[in-house]
Amino acid sequence: MCGIIGYIGKKEASPILISGLRRLEYRGYDSAGVSVWNGRDLVNVKRTGRISVLSDAIDEKRPVGSLGIAHTRWATHGAPSEENAHPHSDCSGKVAVVHNGIIENFVSLKKSLLSEGHKFISETDTEVIAHMIEKYMKVEDFESAVVSTLKLLEGAYGLVAISADEPDKIIVAKKGSPLVIGIGDGEYFVASDTSAILDHTKNVIYLDDGEVGVVESGGYRVFNLHDNSVADKMIEEVSANMDAIEKGGFDTFMLKEIFEQPESIVNAMRGHITEGGSVVKFGGLEGHEKRLSEINRVIIVACGTSFHAGLVARWMMEELVKIPVEVEYASEFRYRNPIVDENCFVIAISQSGETADTLAALKLAKERGAFTYGVCNVVGSSIARAVDAGAYLHAGPEISVASTKAFTSQITVLALLSVYFAQQFGKINKNEAHKILSHLEQIPNKVKEYLENVKDVEEIAKEFYNATNILYLGRGANFPVALEGALKMKELSYIHAEGCPAAEMKHGPIALIDKEMPVIFIATKDSTYDKIVSNIQEVKARGGRVIAIATVGDNYLETLVEHVIYVPETIEIFSPLLNVIPMQLLAYYITTMKGHDVDKPRNLAKSVTVE
Ligand code: AGP
Ligand code: GLU
Repeated sequence: MCGIIGYIGKKEASPILISGLRRLEYRGYDSAGVSVWNGRDLVNVKRTGRISVLSDAIDEKRPVGSLGIAHTRWATHGAPSEENAHPHSDCSGKVAVVHNGIIENFVSLKKSLLSEGHKFISETDTEVIAHMIEKYMKVEDFESAVVSTLKLLEGAYGLVAISADEPDKIIVAKKGSPLVIGIGDGEYFVASDTSAILDHTKNVIYLDDGEVGVVESGGYRVFNLHDNSVADKMIEEVSANMDAIEKGGFDTFMLKEIFEQPESIVNAMRGHITEGGSVVKFGGLEGHEKRLSEINRVIIVACGTSFHAGLVARWMMEELVKIPVEVEYASEFRYRNPIVDENCFVIAISQSGETADTLAALKLAKERGAFTYGVCNVVGSSIARAVDAGAYLHAGPEISVASTKAFTSQITVLALLSVYFAQQFGKINKNEAHKILSHLEQIPNKVKEYLENVKDVEEIAKEFYNATNILYLGRGANFPVALEGALKMKELSYIHAEGCPAAEMKHGPIALIDKEMPVIFIATKDSTYDKIVSNIQEVKARGGRVIAIATVGDNYLETLVEHVIYVPETIEIFSPLLNVIPMQLLAYYITTMKGHDVDKPRNLAKSVTVE
């Protein structure tokens, strides 16, 4: 996700662009740039780092003009660098584009443009758009050239483009990423969201997917890409305040990120499922097939929530790939003398890509000959650059210190990696893969369905927010979810919470059970259900207060426990993606009731770059 702003009017564009980018920095901040028409040329100024670095550069170069576009980047393709920063231009420098999203077919488009002699300077997917517009402008006007380009793009875009040949307009297009048009007095704005333009106007129109806008100093028009018909758009007055907009209307980044999970899970899958949903591909592993065929062991190194995602991955990989998988706390792995060799596939899972313990564990594995693979969210991060190959989460910035959407995105990527390896090792055929993947592709809607209807968790939180201890119990693929639920509760509410394998409870933790002890069971329908029900009865027999996470339709548990939180049904292997959501919400609501800072819990950092 990134931040986009454009301006056309009577004022100097640069100051408006820079102040707008500052408002959008929460959407992504690894690099930034502007392109301003100075009466003769498009002047591009781009810098890595925060907006302040770009602002200082603008003060020196001072591109003067009243037409301009700008972008603050959250990289998906191509590490943060000046070359990869937006705006991107064509060969002539007469077209400039900024883009939010992922162009899934950029490789084939780039290949074709290269064969026609186009010269690229970036590694991004976005740059192909500028060159395609240039190509079509040889025979069409700017607007038609943009339309012709859009019709060939696959993937998601919020796109804004300007041209030195027609410097009296800004063309915008939306498909999957947000864009608004701001209506001022003889001036117009385009932006990713209204936070960037609220200082100038409260009158906006929101573009919908498949719409194209042409914004000129005298007005704007919006039409539908597929049939050129006029789109009838209503002008809306923005009432939200800045803080609310940055949080998408939610009270905190954490709640926003919990509710972003239907979208972030889709983005985690984007581009990996091919051949009608029966084959998984990982571009980063292409060309390594021979090396991968010799792998006989997988080791996962990670910390915190990412470690819990690794435990879920172990269950999925052993289930599908039938290969031994070890999951290690990175801090423990790096200080042992682990047995690692060239037949090991070592996966480093890290949202930030900067966790010191995970980076050190990864380097130890590399030194011992392992093939190393990164699952990160931040493009160009240290871990992403240290591995032999990797996959990004494409979850967008995770601002809240407590990790939520990154966790479900990690599991999604690791689920796809499990299917990929199962296919590579001949463990499943295309039909079996198609069946598994169809369940995975249903998860975003199931998460959305759950989030749109959840009402009970906040009520339950009211009953337990004064607890001093909470026990989380799960089995199999959901034991890691018990650990994750406990971690969310600990790090946010500061209530002592412990995750434990449900069967292990009788080997000690059961001594903790009394009528003061809330016990949360993950008891959705799966191969361990009957055993979990027995564990629930053991706790009830000792006066424990039980909250059960259950599958919609399973009304039996209501006869046993104090509270049942229902989640939609899915297959066992993907149940962690649904079962973790109420855990995230329970920790969230209890924390807000205790009056803590949800997004910045005490003692914690978003990225632990120290030992
Ligand atoms: C998760 O909610 C915590 N903030 C923390 O445990 C985190 O998961 C851990 O520090 C690992 O971070 P990483 O994924 O960026 O490596
Ligand atoms: N895919 C584009 C890039 O990597 C845009 C990323 C974004 O949305 O910021 O530059």
